[in-house]
Amino acid sequence: MSRTIIPDLRPHFVAIDELPEQIDWQEYFGNDQPVELDVGCGRGLFVFRATEEYPDRNYVGVELDFKKARRGALRLHKRDCPNGRIWGGDVNRVLDKIIRPHSLAAVHVYFPDPWWKKKHRRRRIFTDEFVNRAVQVLEPEGFLHFWTDVEDYWEVAAALMNHDARFNACPPPEEHEPEHDMDYQTSFERKKRKLGSTIYRGIWRLKPL
Ligand SMILES: C[S@@+](CC[C@H](N)C(=O)[O-])C[C@H]1O[C@@H](n2cnc3c(N)ncnc32)[C@H](O)[C@@H]1O
Repeated sequence: MSRTIIPDLRPHFVAIDELPEQIDWQEYFGNDQPVELDVGCGRGLFVFRATEEYPDRNYVGVELDFKKARRGALRLHKRDCPNGRIWGGDVNRVLDKIIRPHSLAAVHVYFPDPWWKKKHRRRRIFTDEFVNRAVQVLEPEGFLHFWTDVEDYWEVAAALMNHDARFNACPPPEEHEPEHDMDYQTSFERKKRKLGSTIYRGIWRLKPL
């Protein structure tokens, strides 16, 4: 019987159970660069591209599905990327326990699962509780990014954020024509733009202390 051998992708992939109880970013990355978190990073296209474009910042993607997470981490591993990591596990646990308060420069939420059926909507990740968690981990003047192709998800999230006195809304990024086949923010943006879907993009900035 053949057994699949799972390669060791450390330090680019770790399960959150292997992490210290609370992360000291300076120790973890070996530098004091700002750190940004990608929530539900899927196959990690955003983390992969951002680490190349902004070598003076650090990126962590968190993904529940280990198969996807490891796929993203493999790309970082092959490049021996110093400023990108993928963690396998539940982002809510990461936000509640592992990330120190006010230690992130940005939180990115791209194309979270829509949970189309009404009875499943409460499973959506972007809720007022999630926003409170983000406020706990963001530095003053840190950014919260939210993109989706699901109109009613956008309306709920944008209303939540625009009424939250802790944040200011920023001008959203403009849609640009891709210069090559992987020139998208995430794999889901690529998939949805190719289908002709409208993409809703929002950025909010936490107010200074
Ligand atoms: C629709 S996909 C989008 C992936 C990626 N952000 C993109 O735009 O290509 C949503 C991802 O969020 C992940 N996810 C859902 N709930 C999560 C949670 N609580 N913690 C971490 N990842 C989660 C899912 O496994 C899935 O890969």
